[in-house]
Amino acid sequence: MKDFSNASLNRRRFLQFLAGSPLFATTGLPAILKRGGEGAAWAADVAINTDIATAAQALNVFDLEQVAVKKLPVAHAAYLATGVESDATLRANREGFAKFQIRARRLVDTTRLDTHVELFGTTWPTPIVLDPVSSLRAFHPEGDVAVAKAAKTRNHLQIFPTLATSTLDEVVSARAAPVWFQLYPTSDWNITQALVKRAEAAGCPVVAVTVDNPTSAGRETLARGRRLDARNCVECHLNAPGAYFSRKPMFDGLEVTKLASPLADNLSWDFVRRLKASTSMKVVLKGIVTTEDAVLSLQYQVDGVIVSNHGGRGEESGRSTIEALPEVVDAIGGRIPVLVDSGFRRGSDIFKALALGADAVCIGRPYVWGLAAFGQAGVERALEIVKVELEITMRSMGAASVRSISRGFVQRV
Ligand code: FNR
Repeated sequence: MKDFSNASLNRRRFLQFLAGSPLFATTGLPAILKRGGEGAAWAADVAINTDIATAAQALNVFDLEQVAVKKLPVAHAAYLATGVESDATLRANREGFAKFQIRARRLVDTTRLDTHVELFGTTWPTPIVLDPVSSLRAFHPEGDVAVAKAAKTRNHLQIFPTLATSTLDEVVSARAAPVWFQLYPTSDWNITQALVKRAEAAGCPVVAVTVDNPTSAGRETLARGRRLDARNCVECHLNAPGAYFSRKPMFDGLEVTKLASPLADNLSWDFVRRLKASTSMKVVLKGIVTTEDAVLSLQYQVDGVIVSNHGGRGEESGRSTIEALPEVVDAIGGRIPVLVDSGFRRGSDIFKALALGADAVCIGRPYVWGLAAFGQAGVERALEIVKVELEITMRSMGAASVRSISRGFVQRV
Protein backbone atom coordinates (compact mmCIF):
# COMPACT_ATOMS: atom_id res chain seq x y z
CA MET A 1 0.00 0.00 0.00
CA LYS A 2 1.22 3.52 -0.74
CA ASP A 3 2.45 5.56 2.19
CA PHE A 4 0.88 9.02 2.04
CA SER A 5 2.09 10.27 5.41
CA ASN A 6 3.53 13.78 5.48
CA ALA A 7 7.04 12.52 6.22
CA SER A 8 6.90 10.13 3.29
CA LEU A 9 5.53 12.79 0.94
CA ASN A 10 8.23 15.21 1.97
CA ARG A 11 10.92 12.59 1.43
CA ARG A 12 9.56 11.80 -2.02
CA ARG A 13 9.37 15.48 -2.91
CA PHE A 14 12.92 15.98 -1.68
CA LEU A 15 14.17 13.05 -3.76
CA GLN A 16 12.30 14.37 -6.79
CA PHE A 17 13.86 17.79 -6.21
CA LEU A 18 17.33 16.26 -5.93
CA ALA A 19 16.81 14.16 -8.98
CA GLY A 20 15.98 17.20 -11.06
CA SER A 21 18.69 19.32 -9.50
CA PRO A 22 21.60 20.44 -11.64
CA LEU A 23 23.78 19.51 -8.66
CA PHE A 24 23.53 15.94 -9.74
CA ALA A 25 24.68 16.81 -13.19
CA THR A 26 27.99 17.94 -11.79
CA THR A 27 28.61 15.93 -8.65
CA GLY A 28 27.01 12.52 -8.96
CA LEU A 29 25.05 10.34 -11.27
CA PRO A 30 24.25 12.23 -14.48
CA ALA A 31 20.75 13.69 -14.16
CA ILE A 32 19.66 11.84 -17.26
CA LEU A 33 20.34 8.50 -15.58
CA LYS A 34 19.29 9.48 -12.09
CA ARG A 35 15.58 9.65 -12.73
CA GLY A 36 15.36 6.67 -14.98
CA GLY A 37 16.43 8.23 -18.23
CA GLU A 38 15.57 10.94 -20.70
CA GLY A 39 11.90 10.01 -20.77
CA ALA A 40 11.46 10.63 -17.08
CA ALA A 41 13.71 13.66 -17.15
CA TRP A 42 12.11 15.54 -20.01
CA ALA A 43 8.71 14.25 -20.99
CA ALA A 44 5.93 15.49 -18.77
CA ASP A 45 3.69 12.61 -19.82
CA VAL A 46 6.04 9.89 -18.64
CA ALA A 47 5.47 8.52 -15.16
CA ILE A 48 8.39 6.91 -13.40
CA ASN A 49 7.46 3.28 -13.76
CA THR A 50 9.55 0.77 -11.93
CA ASP A 51 7.43 -2.34 -12.06
CA ILE A 52 7.74 -3.53 -15.66
CA ALA A 53 8.45 -7.27 -15.54
CA THR A 54 7.92 -8.18 -19.19
CA ALA A 55 8.41 -6.42 -22.50
CA ALA A 56 4.67 -6.57 -23.14
CA GLN A 57 3.99 -4.43 -20.07
CA ALA A 58 5.87 -1.45 -21.50
CA LEU A 59 3.36 1.20 -22.53
CA ASN A 60 5.88 3.34 -24.36
CA VAL A 61 9.58 3.23 -25.15
CA PHE A 62 10.43 5.24 -22.05
CA ASP A 63 9.17 2.34 -19.91
CA LEU A 64 11.76 0.16 -21.62
CA GLU A 65 14.39 2.81 -20.97
CA GLN A 66 13.73 2.76 -17.25
CA VAL A 67 14.21 -0.99 -17.08
CA ALA A 68 17.35 -0.71 -19.21
CA VAL A 69 18.87 1.97 -16.98
CA LYS A 70 18.25 -0.20 -13.92
CA LYS A 71 19.72 -3.33 -15.50
CA LEU A 72 22.81 -1.87 -17.16
CA PRO A 73 26.13 -1.17 -15.45
CA VAL A 74 26.26 2.58 -14.97
CA ALA A 75 29.13 3.09 -17.45
CA HIS A 76 27.18 1.28 -20.19
CA ALA A 77 23.97 3.15 -19.39
CA ALA A 78 25.96 6.37 -19.61
CA TYR A 79 27.46 5.34 -22.96
CA LEU A 80 23.94 4.84 -24.29
CA ALA A 81 22.54 8.04 -22.80
CA THR A 82 25.36 10.46 -23.43
CA GLY A 83 25.30 13.55 -25.56
CA VAL A 84 28.12 16.09 -25.79
CA GLU A 85 29.14 18.65 -23.14
CA SER A 86 25.86 19.81 -21.53
CA ASP A 87 23.74 17.43 -23.67
CA ALA A 88 22.01 20.44 -25.23
CA THR A 89 21.68 18.85 -28.68
CA LEU A 90 20.31 15.71 -27.08
CA ARG A 91 17.60 17.79 -25.39
CA ALA A 92 17.04 19.92 -28.49
CA ASN A 93 16.22 16.80 -30.50
CA ARG A 94 13.28 16.08 -28.18
CA GLU A 95 12.23 19.68 -27.72
CA GLY A 96 12.23 20.22 -31.47
CA PHE A 97 9.11 18.10 -31.90
CA ALA A 98 7.08 20.48 -29.72
CA LYS A 99 7.78 23.25 -32.25
CA PHE A 100 5.64 21.45 -34.81
CA GLN A 101 1.94 20.85 -34.31
CA ILE A 102 -0.14 18.42 -36.34
CA ARG A 103 -3.16 19.75 -38.22
CA ALA A 104 -5.70 16.96 -37.88
CA ARG A 105 -8.01 16.25 -40.81
CA ARG A 106 -11.48 14.78 -40.26
CA LEU A 107 -13.79 12.43 -42.11
CA VAL A 108 -11.03 10.37 -43.69
CA ASP A 109 -11.60 6.61 -43.96
CA THR A 110 -8.62 5.02 -42.20
CA THR A 111 -9.97 1.49 -41.81
CA ARG A 112 -7.21 0.23 -44.09
CA LEU A 113 -3.91 1.92 -43.32
CA ASP A 114 -1.04 1.76 -45.77
CA THR A 115 2.30 2.32 -44.02
CA HIS A 116 4.57 0.96 -46.72
CA VAL A 117 7.54 2.90 -48.11
CA GLU A 118 9.99 2.22 -50.89
CA LEU A 119 13.74 2.75 -50.61
CA PHE A 120 16.02 2.04 -53.57
CA GLY A 121 13.47 -0.26 -55.15
CA THR A 122 12.77 -2.31 -52.01
CA THR A 123 9.37 -2.09 -50.39
CA TRP A 124 9.17 -2.01 -46.58
CA PRO A 125 5.95 -2.42 -44.63
CA THR A 126 6.92 0.43 -42.32
CA PRO A 127 8.98 3.64 -42.59
CA ILE A 128 10.70 2.84 -39.27
CA VAL A 129 14.35 1.80 -39.66
CA LEU A 130 16.85 0.48 -37.10
CA ASP A 131 19.81 2.84 -36.84
CA PRO A 132 23.35 1.53 -36.61
CA VAL A 133 24.40 1.35 -32.96
CA SER A 134 27.89 0.19 -32.04
CA SER A 135 28.87 -2.26 -29.29
CA LEU A 136 25.40 -3.75 -28.83
CA ARG A 137 26.81 -6.60 -26.78
CA ALA A 138 27.55 -4.03 -24.07
CA PHE A 139 23.77 -3.91 -23.59
CA HIS A 140 22.84 -7.57 -23.95
CA PRO A 141 24.93 -10.70 -24.59
CA GLU A 142 23.03 -11.43 -27.82
CA GLY A 143 23.55 -7.87 -29.06
CA ASP A 144 23.32 -7.34 -32.82
CA VAL A 145 21.99 -10.86 -33.43
CA ALA A 146 19.01 -10.32 -31.12
CA VAL A 147 18.35 -7.05 -32.92
CA ALA A 148 18.56 -8.75 -36.32
CA LYS A 149 16.11 -11.43 -35.21
CA ALA A 150 13.68 -8.77 -34.02
CA ALA A 151 14.10 -6.84 -37.28
CA LYS A 152 13.27 -10.05 -39.11
CA THR A 153 10.21 -10.89 -37.00
CA ARG A 154 8.80 -7.41 -37.46
CA ASN A 155 10.25 -6.86 -40.94
CA HIS A 156 12.18 -3.60 -40.53
CA LEU A 157 15.20 -2.36 -42.43
CA GLN A 158 18.33 -2.65 -40.28
CA ILE A 159 21.59 -0.72 -40.65
CA PHE A 160 24.64 -2.67 -39.46
CA PRO A 161 27.44 -0.59 -37.87
CA THR A 162 31.19 -0.78 -38.61
CA LEU A 163 31.74 -1.04 -34.86
CA ALA A 164 29.33 -3.92 -34.28
CA THR A 165 30.33 -6.52 -31.74
CA SER A 166 28.95 -9.39 -33.88
CA THR A 167 30.02 -10.30 -37.39
CA LEU A 168 28.20 -9.01 -40.44
CA ASP A 169 27.63 -12.60 -41.59
CA GLU A 170 25.98 -13.52 -38.27
CA VAL A 171 23.66 -10.56 -38.57
CA VAL A 172 22.77 -11.09 -42.22
CA SER A 173 21.98 -14.70 -41.50
CA ALA A 174 19.86 -13.84 -38.41
CA ARG A 175 18.04 -11.13 -40.38
CA ALA A 176 17.66 -13.51 -43.35
CA ALA A 177 17.72 -10.49 -45.68
CA PRO A 178 20.27 -7.86 -46.73
CA VAL A 179 21.06 -5.11 -44.27
CA TRP A 180 22.55 -1.70 -45.03
CA PHE A 181 26.15 -1.16 -43.93
CA GLN A 182 27.13 1.91 -41.91
CA LEU A 183 30.69 2.98 -42.61
CA TYR A 184 33.06 4.84 -40.34
CA PRO A 185 35.44 6.04 -43.01
CA THR A 186 38.71 5.68 -40.99
CA SER A 187 41.71 7.79 -41.95
CA ASP A 188 43.27 4.91 -43.97
CA TRP A 189 41.82 4.38 -47.43
CA ASN A 190 43.06 0.76 -47.66
CA ILE A 191 41.25 -0.23 -44.49
CA THR A 192 38.15 1.65 -45.56
CA GLN A 193 38.17 -0.12 -48.88
CA ALA A 194 38.53 -3.51 -47.16
CA LEU A 195 35.47 -2.71 -44.98
CA VAL A 196 33.49 -1.72 -48.06
CA LYS A 197 34.45 -4.90 -49.91
CA ARG A 198 33.36 -6.98 -46.93
CA ALA A 199 29.98 -5.26 -46.93
CA GLU A 200 29.59 -5.81 -50.68
CA ALA A 201 30.52 -9.49 -50.28
CA ALA A 202 27.87 -9.85 -47.55
CA GLY A 203 25.24 -8.52 -49.97
CA CYS A 204 24.66 -5.07 -48.47
CA PRO A 205 22.90 -2.93 -51.10
CA VAL A 206 23.66 0.41 -49.42
CA VAL A 207 26.58 1.94 -47.54
CA ALA A 208 25.65 4.74 -45.14
CA VAL A 209 28.74 6.84 -44.45
CA THR A 210 28.67 8.59 -41.11
CA VAL A 211 29.86 12.16 -41.57
CA ASP A 212 28.68 13.74 -38.31
CA ASN A 213 30.98 12.26 -35.70
CA PRO A 214 34.59 13.13 -36.40
CA THR A 215 35.84 12.86 -32.81
CA SER A 216 33.45 11.33 -30.26
CA ALA A 217 34.95 13.89 -27.86
CA GLY A 218 33.26 15.84 -25.08
CA ARG A 219 30.90 13.13 -23.90
CA GLU A 220 30.66 14.26 -20.29
CA THR A 221 27.69 12.14 -19.29
CA LEU A 222 29.67 9.10 -20.40
CA ALA A 223 32.75 10.26 -18.48
CA ARG A 224 30.71 10.73 -15.30
CA GLY A 225 29.06 7.33 -15.65
CA ARG A 226 32.47 5.70 -16.07
CA ARG A 227 33.76 7.29 -12.89
CA LEU A 228 30.81 5.90 -10.97
CA ASP A 229 31.27 2.35 -12.27
CA ALA A 230 33.10 0.33 -9.65
CA ARG A 231 33.86 -2.60 -11.97
CA ASN A 232 37.29 -3.19 -13.42
CA CYS A 233 36.67 -1.96 -16.99
CA VAL A 234 40.14 -2.98 -18.18
CA GLU A 235 39.09 -6.63 -17.95
CA CYS A 236 36.97 -6.11 -21.09
CA HIS A 237 38.33 -2.86 -22.52
CA LEU A 238 41.95 -3.98 -22.82
CA ASN A 239 44.53 -1.25 -22.83
CA ALA A 240 46.92 -2.82 -25.35
CA PRO A 241 47.66 -1.28 -28.79
CA GLY A 242 45.02 -2.31 -31.35
CA ALA A 243 42.89 -3.90 -28.60
CA TYR A 244 39.93 -1.66 -29.44
CA PHE A 245 39.73 -3.06 -32.97
CA SER A 246 40.18 -6.65 -31.82
CA ARG A 247 36.70 -6.40 -30.27
CA LYS A 248 35.15 -5.21 -33.56
CA PRO A 249 34.86 -8.11 -36.02
CA MET A 250 34.62 -5.89 -39.13
CA PHE A 251 38.35 -5.20 -38.63
CA ASP A 252 39.37 -8.87 -38.25
CA GLY A 253 42.65 -9.52 -40.05
CA LEU A 254 43.13 -5.88 -41.12
CA GLU A 255 46.32 -3.98 -40.39
CA VAL A 256 45.00 -1.59 -37.74
CA THR A 257 48.12 -0.93 -35.69
CA LYS A 258 48.56 2.54 -37.22
CA LEU A 259 44.88 3.38 -36.88
CA ALA A 260 44.28 5.37 -33.71
CA SER A 261 40.52 5.52 -34.18
CA PRO A 262 37.93 4.22 -36.65
CA LEU A 263 36.73 7.80 -37.09
CA ALA A 264 38.26 10.11 -39.66
CA ASP A 265 38.96 13.76 -39.06
CA ASN A 266 40.46 14.15 -42.55
CA LEU A 267 37.14 13.55 -44.29
CA SER A 268 36.21 15.73 -47.27
CA TRP A 269 33.99 15.60 -50.36
CA ASP A 270 36.93 13.98 -52.20
CA PHE A 271 36.33 10.92 -50.05
CA VAL A 272 32.73 10.81 -51.24
CA ARG A 273 33.84 10.98 -54.87
CA ARG A 274 36.39 8.21 -54.29
CA LEU A 275 33.94 6.00 -52.45
CA LYS A 276 31.28 6.43 -55.13
CA ALA A 277 33.81 5.43 -57.79
CA SER A 278 34.94 2.36 -55.87
CA THR A 279 31.73 0.64 -54.82
CA SER A 280 28.67 -0.88 -56.43
CA MET A 281 26.61 -0.09 -53.32
CA LYS A 282 24.35 2.95 -53.14
CA VAL A 283 26.08 5.65 -51.10
CA VAL A 284 24.06 7.44 -48.43
CA LEU A 285 25.48 10.21 -46.22
CA LYS A 286 24.43 9.99 -42.58
CA GLY A 287 24.60 13.33 -40.81
CA ILE A 288 23.55 15.97 -43.36
CA VAL A 289 21.69 18.87 -41.68
CA THR A 290 21.98 21.90 -43.97
CA THR A 291 20.89 23.13 -47.40
CA GLU A 292 24.53 23.64 -48.37
CA ASP A 293 25.52 20.03 -47.70
CA ALA A 294 22.32 18.71 -49.26
CA VAL A 295 23.20 20.60 -52.46
CA LEU A 296 26.76 19.22 -52.36
CA SER A 297 25.36 15.72 -51.80
CA LEU A 298 23.50 16.06 -55.08
CA GLN A 299 26.55 17.50 -56.83
CA TYR A 300 28.62 14.53 -55.70
CA GLN A 301 25.89 12.16 -56.89
CA VAL A 302 25.17 10.71 -53.49
CA ASP A 303 22.22 8.30 -53.58
CA GLY A 304 20.51 9.34 -50.34
CA VAL A 305 20.96 11.31 -47.12
CA ILE A 306 20.10 10.78 -43.48
CA VAL A 307 19.38 13.98 -41.58
CA SER A 308 21.11 13.19 -38.32
CA ASN A 309 23.16 14.66 -35.49
CA HIS A 310 24.06 11.21 -34.21
CA GLY A 311 21.35 11.36 -31.56
CA GLY A 312 23.01 14.44 -30.06
CA ARG A 313 26.26 12.54 -29.40
CA GLY A 314 28.46 14.04 -32.10
CA GLU A 315 28.15 17.78 -31.62
CA GLU A 316 26.79 20.48 -29.31
CA SER A 317 25.05 22.53 -32.00
CA GLY A 318 21.85 22.80 -29.99
CA ARG A 319 19.86 22.23 -33.19
CA SER A 320 17.31 19.45 -33.54
CA THR A 321 17.07 17.31 -36.65
CA ILE A 322 13.31 17.85 -36.98
CA GLU A 323 14.13 21.57 -37.43
CA ALA A 324 16.93 20.79 -39.91
CA LEU A 325 14.78 18.40 -41.93
CA PRO A 326 12.70 20.89 -44.00
CA GLU A 327 15.70 22.69 -45.49
CA VAL A 328 17.35 19.41 -46.48
CA VAL A 329 14.11 18.09 -47.98
CA ASP A 330 13.66 21.32 -49.93
CA ALA A 331 17.22 21.27 -51.27
CA ILE A 332 17.00 17.61 -52.26
CA GLY A 333 13.67 18.23 -53.99
CA GLY A 334 12.64 14.58 -54.20
CA ARG A 335 15.67 13.56 -56.29
CA ILE A 336 17.04 11.07 -53.73
CA PRO A 337 15.63 9.59 -50.52
CA VAL A 338 15.85 11.63 -47.32
CA LEU A 339 15.82 9.71 -44.06
CA VAL A 340 16.01 11.28 -40.60
CA ASP A 341 16.89 10.25 -37.05
CA SER A 342 17.78 11.65 -33.61
CA GLY A 343 15.31 11.86 -30.76
CA PHE A 344 12.40 9.96 -32.31
CA ARG A 345 10.46 8.31 -29.50
CA ARG A 346 6.77 8.59 -30.41
CA GLY A 347 4.61 7.75 -33.40
CA SER A 348 3.65 11.42 -33.54
CA ASP A 349 7.35 12.38 -33.87
CA ILE A 350 7.61 10.03 -36.85
CA PHE A 351 4.40 11.41 -38.35
CA LYS A 352 5.79 14.96 -38.17
CA ALA A 353 8.98 13.94 -39.99
CA LEU A 354 7.00 12.15 -42.70
CA ALA A 355 4.85 15.27 -43.08
CA LEU A 356 7.97 17.42 -43.43
CA GLY A 357 9.09 15.19 -46.29
CA ALA A 358 11.19 12.36 -44.83
CA ASP A 359 10.98 9.09 -46.73
CA ALA A 360 11.77 7.04 -43.61
CA VAL A 361 12.68 7.55 -39.96
CA CYS A 362 15.45 5.73 -38.09
CA ILE A 363 15.49 5.04 -34.37
CA GLY A 364 18.52 4.33 -32.20
CA ARG A 365 18.22 4.35 -28.42
CA PRO A 366 14.57 3.18 -28.19
CA TYR A 367 15.33 -0.27 -29.59
CA VAL A 368 18.55 -0.47 -27.54
CA TRP A 369 16.49 0.22 -24.40
CA GLY A 370 14.33 -2.73 -25.42
CA LEU A 371 17.42 -4.86 -26.02
CA ALA A 372 18.98 -4.02 -22.67
CA ALA A 373 15.69 -4.54 -20.85
CA PHE A 374 14.45 -7.79 -22.40
CA GLY A 375 16.75 -8.91 -25.25
CA GLN A 376 15.10 -9.74 -28.57
CA ALA A 377 11.60 -9.50 -27.04
CA GLY A 378 12.39 -5.97 -25.88
CA VAL A 379 13.56 -4.89 -29.33
CA GLU A 380 10.39 -6.35 -30.82
CA ARG A 381 8.31 -4.50 -28.24
CA ALA A 382 10.07 -1.19 -28.96
CA LEU A 383 9.41 -1.63 -32.68
CA GLU A 384 5.81 -2.60 -32.05
CA ILE A 385 5.23 0.41 -29.80
CA VAL A 386 6.49 3.00 -32.27
CA LYS A 387 4.72 1.34 -35.18
CA VAL A 388 1.40 1.16 -33.36
CA GLU A 389 1.80 4.75 -32.18
CA LEU A 390 2.42 5.84 -35.77
CA GLU A 391 -0.71 3.99 -36.87
CA ILE A 392 -2.75 5.59 -34.10
CA THR A 393 -1.43 9.00 -35.12
CA MET A 394 -2.31 8.35 -38.76
CA ARG A 395 -5.86 7.34 -37.77
CA SER A 396 -6.39 10.27 -35.45
CA MET A 397 -4.96 12.78 -37.93
CA GLY A 398 -6.85 11.43 -40.94
CA ALA A 399 -3.98 10.04 -43.02
CA ALA A 400 -4.74 6.67 -44.56
CA SER A 401 -1.30 6.15 -46.08
CA VAL A 402 2.26 7.28 -45.55
CA ARG A 403 2.15 8.72 -49.06
CA SER A 404 -0.71 11.00 -48.03
CA ILE A 405 1.17 12.52 -45.06
CA SER A 406 2.03 15.82 -46.71
CA ARG A 407 3.41 19.07 -45.33
CA GLY A 408 -0.08 20.44 -44.86
CA PHE A 409 -0.36 18.16 -41.83
CA VAL A 410 2.11 20.23 -39.80
CA GLN A 411 2.49 23.81 -38.78
CA ARG A 412 5.48 25.39 -37.09
CA VAL A 413 4.54 26.95 -33.75
C1 FNR B 1 25.02 5.45 -32.03
N1 FNR B 1 25.01 5.96 -33.31
C2 FNR B 1 25.89 5.48 -34.24
N2 FNR B 1 25.85 5.96 -35.50
C3 FNR B 1 26.70 5.50 -36.44
O1 FNR B 1 26.63 5.95 -37.57
N3 FNR B 1 27.62 4.53 -36.12
C4 FNR B 1 27.72 4.02 -34.87
O2 FNR B 1 28.54 3.15 -34.60
C5 FNR B 1 26.84 4.51 -33.88
N4 FNR B 1 26.90 4.07 -32.59
C6 FNR B 1 26.00 4.51 -31.67
C7 FNR B 1 26.05 4.01 -30.37
C8 FNR B 1 25.11 4.41 -29.45
C9 FNR B 1 25.14 3.84 -28.08
C10 FNR B 1 24.09 5.32 -29.83
C11 FNR B 1 23.04 5.73 -28.86
C12 FNR B 1 24.07 5.84 -31.08
C13 FNR B 1 24.01 6.97 -33.70
C14 FNR B 1 22.77 6.29 -34.23
O3 FNR B 1 23.00 5.64 -35.44
C15 FNR B 1 21.66 7.30 -34.45
O4 FNR B 1 22.10 8.34 -35.28
C16 FNR B 1 21.14 7.89 -33.15
O5 FNR B 1 21.12 6.92 -32.13
C17 FNR B 1 19.72 8.41 -33.38
O6 FNR B 1 19.26 9.06 -32.26
P1 FNR B 1 18.36 8.38 -31.14
O7 FNR B 1 17.25 7.63 -31.82
O8 FNR B 1 19.26 7.46 -30.35
O9 FNR B 1 17.91 9.54 -30.34
